[in-house]
Amino acid sequence: MKKTLIIVAHPIHPASVTTTQIAEYLKDTNEAKSGEIQFRNLITLYPDYKIDKKAEQETLLWAETVVLQFPFYWYSIPGILKTWIDEVLEYGFAYGKTGDKLKGKHLILSFSTGGPAEAYAHGARNNYEIEELLFPIIQTSNLIGTILETPIVSFGMPNIPGIETNKTETVKRATEHAERLYNTVLSL
Ligand SMILES: Cc1cc2nc3c(=O)[nH]c(=O)nc-3n(C[C@H](O)[C@H](O)[C@H](O)COP(=O)(O)O)c2cc1C
Repeated sequence: MKKTLIIVAHPIHPASVTTTQIAEYLKDTNEAKSGEIQFRNLITLYPDYKIDKKAEQETLLWAETVVLQFPFYWYSIPGILKTWIDEVLEYGFAYGKTGDKLKGKHLILSFSTGGPAEAYAHGARNNYEIEELLFPIIQTSNLIGTILETPIVSFGMPNIPGIETNKTETVKRATEHAERLYNTVLSL
């Protein structure tokens, strides 16, 4: 297994169902198999959003595969992940003349959405394919030279106060998502 860093980027981690289940499943599997996965839960490390840039960059240097694990918020990544990207992927580290530190590493976007898959299509409620909404991250990956793997997405996993959900089913589907992610990490 390649050395794998999982950036868990949920702004209200204790309230999360899907993201938490994915992270917990991977933690247990990693421990059981003595794997090489490190986790960094951003909201636990940085409840005030003050990212320790050097610590994050050091872990990135260690990693051969980087997973960004997040809930899809407003057709994008949540603010805490954007702050992490803004702070950590700085000039001279991730891009620019000497900024080649992430080049050649694998990058996996792993996320859940509230909306169903069929809503992410031209002419449907969300108007765009999910891949189109990911263009800023795709281009970020191009710039920093990472190898972007096919995203791992679970649609229809809303965790929004007022919207009724079947938690048992959500946890089951989140576990399946985690298995897909683990197998992808192993296959690289
Ligand atoms: C502030 C906020 C914005 C959201 N924006 C979107 C969105 O743009 N598209 C979508 O499909 N789901 C959206 N959702 C639903 C989340 O993606 C969903 O609740 C999350 O993936 C569930 O994961 P969790 O249990 O780890 O929180 C949003 C939820 C919140 C709270």
